[in-house]
Amino acid sequence: MKALILSGGRGTRLRPLTHTIAKQLVPVANQPILGYVMDHVQAAGMGDVGVVVAPETQGEVRGYLGDGGKWGVNLTYILQEQPLGLAHAVKTAKDFLGDAPFVMYLGDNLLGKGIAGAIERFASSSMDALVFLKQVDDPRAFGVAELDGSGSIVRLVEKPKDPPSDLALVGVYLFSPKIHRAIDSIEPSWRGELEITDAIQWLIDHGGRVSGEVLDCWWLDTGKKDDFLQANLTVLDDYLKRDIRGELVDSQVHGRVRLEDGARIVNSVVRGPVAIGRDAEIRDSFIGPYTSIGHGSRIVGSSVEHSVILDRCEVIGISRLEDSLIGRDSRVVMGGARNTALRLMIGDHCQIEV
Ligand code: TTP
Repeated sequence: MKALILSGGRGTRLRPLTHTIAKQLVPVANQPILGYVMDHVQAAGMGDVGVVVAPETQGEVRGYLGDGGKWGVNLTYILQEQPLGLAHAVKTAKDFLGDAPFVMYLGDNLLGKGIAGAIERFASSSMDALVFLKQVDDPRAFGVAELDGSGSIVRLVEKPKDPPSDLALVGVYLFSPKIHRAIDSIEPSWRGELEITDAIQWLIDHGGRVSGEVLDCWWLDTGKKDDFLQANLTVLDDYLKRDIRGELVDSQVHGRVRLEDGARIVNSVVRGPVAIGRDAEIRDSFIGPYTSIGHGSRIVGSSVEHSVILDRCEVIGISRLEDSLIGRDSRVVMGGARNTALRLMIGDHCQIEV
């Protein structure tokens, strides 16, 4: 069994963050999403891992994953020149995959539980595909599966107006090598992409056995700002343990707070769950629950809660910052006198609520 992680694509939905960073590398609780994916792949015992990358972002992805040694796996990078669809990514990876069964894991998805159990179930069966599913409130926004009484998938529909079920496709799939024939048999969709849902439907229509693995844990597609803050909240709630490596000076740190090496908290109060990255500085401030502060960021004379502040930011003199997502190398600074004009330098595609 091999693993194929998809880490190419465009990442339009998470702009402007993804103008300067691959969307799979956007950190949640200070760890890139791709890191959680790798943790799951490693925990499932996968030794051979292929990573599909795009020309624009491959440098960063390679920089983070390296040769895979950190996770004890052999990594093979596969360059997909254009994001022509999930099935196209599999096609591009054909040499790496050979005739092995494989798990395909979308590199921007976060799951509350690993994939080892499903892989065992798949390996001991004669299934051609096992598709991870999750019950959602509004299936109209997702790819949706229709199951028969025995749990087999009979139909997949993309963003249906009239959903046949509330089971959305999560970004994890297990495939037998038959999927390659299916992919070779389908045509690009109206949006010009080779769709994995069309390939799976082809399998079903040609007598293949396709089942669903319904998740009983959370699943997050970190598409937009609010999903992203929610992902941060869930991961902080679920994974974070108290771990104080940095330095505390005249400060109170309550609950589950992870303070990484080189970080300093001076004359401040931090109430977890909170993750504070390497070499960050918190001074004369309050940091409230569900906040992640990136590596090398400085928070001075401010109060920050339920927010994600990425690396190397400065937040100075802000009396209340909430529900915010601040991209790398940004500065949020209170001007000299209050109630005067705002002075802003804002990049493309930003959103400011005053
Ligand atoms: P999507 O979220 O479907 O597509 P996208 O990355 O183009 O994003 P957006 O909708 O924000 O523009 O992709 C799911 C995952 O699969 C993501 O990690 C990127 C990856 N992917 C590829 O590697 N190759 C592809 O051709 C596509 C479409 C996606």
